[in-house]
Amino acid sequence: MFEICPESPADEYEVEALYDLCFAPGRTALSSYRLREGVARVAELCLTLRDGSGILLAAIRFWPVRAAGRRALLLGPIAVHPTAQGEGLGALLMRDSLERARAGGWARVLLVGDAPYYQRFGFRKLEDVEMPPPTNPDRVLGLELRPGAWVGLTGPVTRAEMPAPLAQTPPAPHIRPDQKPHPGESADERKPADGAAPDQRPLGP
Ligand SMILES: CC(C)(COP(=O)(O)OP(=O)(O)OC[C@H]1O[C@@H](n2cnc3c(N)ncnc32)[C@H](O)[C@@H]1OP(=O)(O)O)[C@@H](O)C(=O)NCCC(=O)NCCS
Repeated sequence: MFEICPESPADEYEVEALYDLCFAPGRTALSSYRLREGVARVAELCLTLRDGSGILLAAIRFWPVRAAGRRALLLGPIAVHPTAQGEGLGALLMRDSLERARAGGWARVLLVGDAPYYQRFGFRKLEDVEMPPPTNPDRVLGLELRPGAWVGLTGPVTRAEMPAPLAQTPPAPHIRPDQKPHPGESADERKPADGAAPDQRPLGP
């Protein structure tokens, strides 16, 4: 019996400890962490999975980013406790969180990871989307939650928001009347690059 819940501030220490256990030292030096620093997680998509005794077995987190100028989710880290790996818990968290993301109106997800694992959830290599260096381009994978959401997108992945001390009031969006929305987004998705979606609430105070 397992319980999947949105991560709460009280889970923070345990989740960090699980990630430290499952990843090599220095994980936060990875270039993908530069996209996360100072940016609030997408709280309702960050999930914990506990067993019947309340032991934390797995966790997944998501951050908002901009990919080729469009809103996207950055999936990860996801980790399953070494004693529980290979039992389907990672897949449970992947499917549950992606379903929540789709229901929440997100159009596209990207991650940096092993294609042999993530392709079972529909992730494919993103040929034209660049993560900050150094990132192996073969590990940059994307999933469409809305049909066509990655079609024709070419460009870098950038932070969704500036760090708080540097944050400025975002400029008003300039949308020409003749500017059609991308097939994978709705008109209200065309926010300025630093505009936070309503569902991007910070986890802690
Ligand atoms: C990767 C991870 C999240 C998968 O979760 P899990 O619960 O162990 O995996 P599942 O039970 O859902 O799936 C098991 C299957 O995935 C495969 N798999 C697991 N990790 C894999 C990887 N890195 N590459 C390819 N396949 C992988 C297993 O071989 C197994 O294959 P099978 O179904 O053909 O037998 C987990 O093993 C883990 O925490 N690893 C360490 C941290 C990590 O690498 N996280 C991902 C990077 S963000």
